[in-house]
Amino acid sequence: MKLLDIYDLEKSYYIENSRTMKREKIEVIKNISLQIAESESVSIMGKSGCGKTTLLKMLGGLLAPSAGSIYYKGERLSDLRKECLEKYRRTQVGFVFQDYRLLECMTIKENMILPCVLDHQDVEASIRKVEIMAEMLKISDRLEHYPSELSGGEKQRAAIGRALINTPSLILADEPTGNLDSVSSKIVMELLVKLQRELNVTMILVTHDKEIANYCSRIVKIVDGQICKG
Ligand SMILES: Nc1ncnc2c1ncn2[C@@H]1O[C@H](COP(=O)(O)OP(=O)(O)OP(=O)(O)O)[C@@H](O)[C@H]1O
Ligand SMILES: [Mg+2]
Repeated sequence: MKLLDIYDLEKSYYIENSRTMKREKIEVIKNISLQIAESESVSIMGKSGCGKTTLLKMLGGLLAPSAGSIYYKGERLSDLRKECLEKYRRTQVGFVFQDYRLLECMTIKENMILPCVLDHQDVEASIRKVEIMAEMLKISDRLEHYPSELSGGEKQRAAIGRALINTPSLILADEPTGNLDSVSSKIVMELLVKLQRELNVTMILVTHDKEIANYCSRIVKIVDGQICKG
């Protein structure tokens, strides 16, 4: 079964040239068509600035394409009303960022439970979910700590736990190991892939690192705003 169907996707940004004061168009994604199956793991590779983050943002419903379509389970994202798109982001997608994006003023447990609280779920059941997730990610002894007290790898494992706590169908990870050394990267990737398989989640992972990309079942390369064939 297909989860994502991407057709003729384009994205341009407009910026003001500070010298000429004229609006300039930057074509980032020029034409991307891609199908991603349920439970598949795909890594997106490409040079800095080629549009990887832009693509992930469009897939996650954070950014509207300039042209083309993204179908998620047969529904076109750009046809969804604002509330439906918000629900899509909240319930179907889990985001993992290079810089973890944990809330510094909250403990790891509070950070991980947040998506359940926002979804008005039962508190006791949510705490249990956090404890199970923390066990799987080997951070049970860090739940009462604040992000500043954790290592980068532990922070990223907590962020992965937060992204997966409500078992989304799609996980979008943007350079999840970009701030980590090779040992922590390996630990994080092994846990991420293990969870992705156990929970049957589709994963799209952006990376510069070929070794990290190899954790996924398929590698897609972007060159000059398009998918590089071969
Ligand atoms: N909001 C924006 N307004 C204008 N230009 C933007 C905006 N966001 C991104 N860009 C430009 O679009 C291009 C692609 O950016 P993007 O962040 O998608 O690249 P990337 O492949 O993720 O790069 P990196 O590997 O460095 O993270 C870059 O040239 C960037 O400067
Ligand atoms: Mg990027």
